[in-house]
Amino acid sequence: MIITFAEIDGFKNLSGISFAPDKKYNIIVGENAQGKTNLLEAMWILSGCKSFRGSKEKDYINLYGNRMSAKIKVLDSVREQKIEFDMIKNANKNIVLNGVKQKGTRAIFDVFKCIAFIPDDVEIIKGSPEKRRNFIDMASSQLNPAFVANINKSNVIINQRNALLKLILQNKAKADSLEIWDRQASVVGAEISYMRYGYIKKINEICGKLYNTISGGNELLELEYKSNVYRLSDFDVPIGNDAIEKYYNKMRESADYDIRTGTTHTGVNRDDVIIKINGVSAKDYGSQGQIKSTALVMKMAQAEIFMKKSKDAPVVFLDDVMGELDENRQKFIFDIIRNMQVFLTTPNESAILPEIKGKILRIHGGKLI
Ligand SMILES: Nc1ncnc2c1ncn2[C@@H]1O[C@H](COP(=O)(O)OP(=O)(O)OP(=O)(O)O)[C@@H](O)[C@H]1O
Ligand SMILES: [Mg+2]
Repeated sequence: MIITFAEIDGFKNLSGISFAPDKKYNIIVGENAQGKTNLLEAMWILSGCKSFRGSKEKDYINLYGNRMSAKIKVLDSVREQKIEFDMIKNANKNIVLNGVKQKGTRAIFDVFKCIAFIPDDVEIIKGSPEKRRNFIDMASSQLNPAFVANINKSNVIINQRNALLKLILQNKAKADSLEIWDRQASVVGAEISYMRYGYIKKINEICGKLYNTISGGNELLELEYKSNVYRLSDFDVPIGNDAIEKYYNKMRESADYDIRTGTTHTGVNRDDVIIKINGVSAKDYGSQGQIKSTALVMKMAQAEIFMKKSKDAPVVFLDDVMGELDENRQKFIFDIIRNMQVFLTTPNESAILPEIKGKILRIHGGKLI
């Protein structure tokens, strides 16, 4: 899919932006702090996902302004659709799809798919397990939006359970009232575990192949799901009542400890993904270059899985990542994303491969010049 038109005003420092992107390459050039990343972010939020750099929604509005609006037209293999997102200070956001006001982000999530590469992606490898869970969950949600509902449901259950644990600790609730939450948690939790396992297995295969290429055939990258409940061999059997029962029993086992500490220690909220290069943990032993390449390869694999599933390739946002890569790695990336529309930012045009020709968008003080 491609963005055919974008109009942004009042989003952070951006004002009066209106342009028709190139079908292929769009190179956003400007000095530091001029609005390059903001421009990617303003388009990104129209996918219905939270900001890729963790901005809060209230901060979408210019500090000195009262409203923001972002609109794009997206063309896929079937039709062109228009997505609008606007917000007035201290009021709710408005999401409008093809002129029809939407209740939530679900509808636009299905309409506009994009993938962003940002320098912070190395945190997927270096950061806390939560970063890895978020990556997997976000990537599998793009394939199957039903997954988002499971994640949200699980978060609600865990929050309620944690609140109850605190009440039990203060003798304001009975310990046996926990059980109904454990029942609910196991149904959703088993579902999430099996989905995470399936996605990691898929992404592992592609990552292995891509990393082998990027490292000149010298290094082996492996990803493995570390479930808090299941052993890997458990996933050989399709999900069923046994899997749910196993999850439930594990939750019951830690119930006493959970009550004493006031928090839930068992379940998908404790999952991780083990990432190894040549058999050892990339997080603990990887060099900066290896970690950067791993993050890149994981995102590339996400794009490839998505491509296989859908006729429509996602739009790719590359924030400040090209300048840091040598020529070979840039070529490698552009080879994988050759069929996708790309928006990339750089303070330095000459750091981009000369064969990447497209529309140059110069930005200064939040305006296109
Ligand atoms: N809510 C806001 N209101 C007004 N300005 C904001 C808001 N949030 C961020 N900014 C400003 O937007 C400017 C541009 O930020 P952006 O991150 O897009 O820069 P950039 O061009 O990507 O720079 P760099 O090359 O350093 O990454 C910054 O000066 C930032 O302080
Ligand atoms: Mg930036």
